[in-house]
Amino acid sequence: MKVRISSERCQGHGRCYDLAPDLFGEDDEGYGQVVGEGVVPSDKPDQERAARLAVSNCPERAIEIL
Ligand code: F3S
Repeated sequence: MKVRISSERCQGHGRCYDLAPDLFGEDDEGYGQVVGEGVVPSDKPDQERAARLAVSNCPERAIEIL
């Protein structure tokens, strides 16, 4: 499982990196970005849950699970 943020959609609401700080960070202007390659470790169900939570909480629907 992988996560991706659409830079065109992201408006910098910051919920992704609040809810899933292991998976998302912020750039200098507060826009979300994935940590590393955006890979969600398959042996970490809590991170999978956090990824789904981030998807459902992004008001711009900017986060995608691949
Ligand atoms: Fe951007 Fe959505 Fe996160 S708008 S900063 S991807 S919560």
